Amino acid sequence: MQEIIEELEKKRQRARLGGGRKRIDKQHAKGKLTARERIEVLLDQDSFEEWDMFVEHRCTDFDMGKETIPGDGVVTGYGAINGRLVFIFSQDFTVFGGSLSASHAEKICKIMDQAMKVGAPVIGLNDSGGARIQEGVDSLAGYAEVFQRNVMASGVIPQISLIMGPCAGGAVYSPAITDFIFMVENTSYMFVTGPDVVKTVTHENVTHEDLGGALTHTTRSGVADKAFANDVEALLSLRQFVDFLPANNTENPPIRPTNDPWDRADNSLDSIVPDNTNKPYDMRELLKKVVDEGEFFELQPDYAGNILTGFSRIEGRTVGFVANQPMVLAGCLDINSAIKAARFVRFCDCFNIPVITFVDVPGFLPGTSQEHGGIITHGAKLLYAYAECTVPKITVITRKAYGGAYDVMSSKHLRGDVNFAWPSAEIAVMGPKGAVEIIFRGDLDDQEKISERITNYRERFANPFVVGHRGFIDDVIMPHTTRMRLAKSLRMLQGKNIINPWRKHGNIPL
Ligand code: HXC
Repeated sequence: MQEIIEELEKKRQRARLGGGRKRIDKQHAKGKLTARERIEVLLDQDSFEEWDMFVEHRCTDFDMGKETIPGDGVVTGYGAINGRLVFIFSQDFTVFGGSLSASHAEKICKIMDQAMKVGAPVIGLNDSGGARIQEGVDSLAGYAEVFQRNVMASGVIPQISLIMGPCAGGAVYSPAITDFIFMVENTSYMFVTGPDVVKTVTHENVTHEDLGGALTHTTRSGVADKAFANDVEALLSLRQFVDFLPANNTENPPIRPTNDPWDRADNSLDSIVPDNTNKPYDMRELLKKVVDEGEFFELQPDYAGNILTGFSRIEGRTVGFVANQPMVLAGCLDINSAIKAARFVRFCDCFNIPVITFVDVPGFLPGTSQEHGGIITHGAKLLYAYAECTVPKITVITRKAYGGAYDVMSSKHLRGDVNFAWPSAEIAVMGPKGAVEIIFRGDLDDQEKISERITNYRERFANPFVVGHRGFIDDVIMPHTTRMRLAKSLRMLQGKNIINPWRKHGNIPL
């Protein structure tokens, strides 16, 4: 017995040391924490229960039989974040470069299966050289087993990926299926084929960072939701983030008590929209004035900036926000913003998170690059996402809501539950100038007459009352009362229960 206990302790020590002191020092020298240190930062103190510490690979090719390390390059188990259960895997780059063997994959699958059984989120900390080259197809099979589970868990439990080192080749497709991807600046990268292959095939010279670093994926590709300066900042932010989410699709997000009064009026909102309708204002600032304690966890802040997406709370309850941003492209909808917002709305819908939409949209962005890029298909994604969404939907039109974009942005006609307009709202088929230029196409010489017609059009159509008369908005509200009106509406909608017709699944225009 004593012998076994000693043996056990030795094995534990061996596992905790991963690939050994030298490799740990190398990891630290790169500014990275080890797999276990990351878990310590992410989870509540002493909450981590490790599984499969003694699992080893079964490969004998390339003399691998002589080289086994308990744990086989991934630390798995469960623990708590602010007292709430989460499952976790953390790849250990010091062990065979965190590469994925059959055993390594089995460990990940085991915690995913368990997370599904109990209904808790899975968080993956990725730091891996990809498929364990010595294992060949066994490793590919392992990846596919993980992918299959990612897909089955999608919309059932939240899945979050934090990329903290390399993530290359087919390995990128597991994070891609998860709900959110976060990255660490300068030390993480994701690509399907690395710089060497790129050079051979396309003769392009590109660095790891340019091809798939955090900056690239948070500003150009839109693959990642947010980047953080270092491991610690990323892990601590993830703790905050998880607090917005429910454990699974049958539960509501946790309520976080707030000292911010639900009926707090903010008079500065009455003058935030400039009199000149072509002048921008910062929708982010507006949004922060309305939510609990001004806290907004923004997603993709540096990508498709013409739409804002992210989580906040009202009366302590999580709300997903979508908002046109007049500061970027005048708040037009384009391909990237439609995809960004559609995916976000669908996440909220999966996980019982009400969606509040702030609208100031002059329409879809015109141009050949948009049309040839498929704005028809991509714009339809956002329309589809709002239309199928059954969670509470509240809309506030602050200024422009023109044309098809009016319909798309959570309008009454797409089952918006509560649709408000500010007095500055202009809801019409198009802006007054464009409308006059079309209606009076043959009579555009007299500048004075044109101005008069624009004024007439604005008075006649570009105001909240035309749609108000038809019941397409429920009320015109004073901007300073917005928080209170949203809070009341959210309370009223807590019991909302509508069900879409049975189908295997819809066919969203992908
Ligand atoms: C086995 C690997 C490995 C791998 C790294 N290592 N990647 N072992 N399989 N895929 C080992 C190295 O041999 C080394 O072992 C240790 O990990 C650290 O690697 P270094 O190269 O020293 O580290 P670094 O210089 O930081 O470079 C990291 C790296 C590089 C860029 C990830 O290691 C690399 O290019 N690895 C190969 C990547 C790759 O081609 N993977 C397969 C992709 S295909 P020692 O003992 O020296 O410490 C794929 C298909 C998935 O993933 C398909 C799914 C559908």
